[in-house]
Amino acid sequence: MSWQDDYQSKLMSADKALDYLKSGERLVIAHACGEPSYLVDTMVEKAEQYENVEIVHMVAMGKCAYAQPGMEKHFRHNALFVGGGTRKAVQEGRGDYTPCFFYRIPALFTNGSLPIDVAMVQTTPPDENGNMCLGISVDYTLPAAKAAKKVIVQVNKEVPRTGGNSCINVSDANIVAIVEHDAPLIELPLPKIGEVEKAIGANCAKLINDGDTLQLGIGAIPDAVLLFLKEKKDLGIHSEMFSDGVVELAEAGVITNAKKTTHKGKYVANFLMGSKRLYDFVNNNPDVEMYPVDYVNHPIVIGKEDNIVSINSCVQIDLMGQAASESIGYTQISGVGGQVDFIRGAAFAKNGRAILAFPSTAAKGKVSKIVPLLDEGAAVSTSRNDVDYAVTEYGIAKLSGKTLKERARALIEIAHPDFRDGLKKVYEERFHCSYE
Ligand code: COA
Repeated sequence: MSWQDDYQSKLMSADKALDYLKSGERLVIAHACGEPSYLVDTMVEKAEQYENVEIVHMVAMGKCAYAQPGMEKHFRHNALFVGGGTRKAVQEGRGDYTPCFFYRIPALFTNGSLPIDVAMVQTTPPDENGNMCLGISVDYTLPAAKAAKKVIVQVNKEVPRTGGNSCINVSDANIVAIVEHDAPLIELPLPKIGEVEKAIGANCAKLINDGDTLQLGIGAIPDAVLLFLKEKKDLGIHSEMFSDGVVELAEAGVITNAKKTTHKGKYVANFLMGSKRLYDFVNNNPDVEMYPVDYVNHPIVIGKEDNIVSINSCVQIDLMGQAASESIGYTQISGVGGQVDFIRGAAFAKNGRAILAFPSTAAKGKVSKIVPLLDEGAAVSTSRNDVDYAVTEYGIAKLSGKTLKERARALIEIAHPDFRDGLKKVYEERFHCSYE
């Protein structure tokens, strides 16, 4: 049978396709802005026919109606990262969080820890060989589509075709249903970059040289860093994800990937979140390569990229350099994501550098992010053994290679001035010596 015949035999309405999902099964939804919204909406409309479906998801950028009160009987959310749309569900007990480094998530699907019944994905229409491209979300989505017993595909002409290893094939035996539905992709609003973020960005930029390769986390700080890189030359991208800020620097000729050690000339990522401008930039762009997260985020793969600089953020950091990046006390607000994958990868790399960049205060200046002790219940995302640089709007603290005393001093120097005296007092009590 040709792939065209397979396509016709698998083509059906969303309503019929969602009958392949059964009560008690585990479903993985394609990640972030690659979510197949039409299929998810249809599933929620048919909620009455399901009981106890476990939904495994990471950065859930869609409506998350399945995680709302009233849906508990039908769906249970299992978050591999707690995003804005699922935070309340996890906090109110309608969902759970499963801790896992991002690069290890595909292994959960195949090593018996988290076997998948159904994967729900979104792709381009097939090419001349029947390959359907996952476009902007390859990450755990491609591994899930390979590992699931049943795959339901939303084919959407708006999905950009990206290179690398980003396709499934119409004739894959586990694809049970194909639903055609064109709709704009989910977009990530541009972050608000204020004066604090700009100052942090300027400090981070001091640690970045011409020819470096960058990993950038999500949000205002990574985008603010990019603002200060306009004069640099031949930067490269090997990043879990990237967003619109990278397009700007690419179009300005600052990012060329020409000096990369691996994938020379190519942008490497596992997912993308941004506006239509980003999605148009990557569409059929021969320089953009998307791979699963167990490749892109694998610390050994990252370690092969000389001069890689990773930039991520945290919620709190204590005076030993332990960073809580995903919880405020007992409250899980996000996930470890790829933070440690890249911090460890950068440590393996020749001339690698790992930056944790964060505003010195939170809650409108009421609390310091640099603290004597992490809040009770906070999860240590980056251990004191892994931490490298910490950066705030007040400066740069190099922590790796420093004694406990030296790193405490370095952190106090980049704390907000309002909190420095208190931290100095703790320093003196803890180390039995004068700070001055
Ligand atoms: N004490 C109390 N509240 C705090 C706090 C602290 N120390 N730190 C942050 N908060 C609050 C903020 O005030 C904010 O509250 P609001 O939403 O009511 O304004 C909220 O927590 C989120 O903090 P913010 O600093 O705005 O978050 P962010 O969007 O810049 O994200 C992280 C920062 C650390 C949560 C995020 O980078 C993350 O999840 N990192 C881990 C994963 C990772 O690094 N992945 C790799 C790349 S994708």
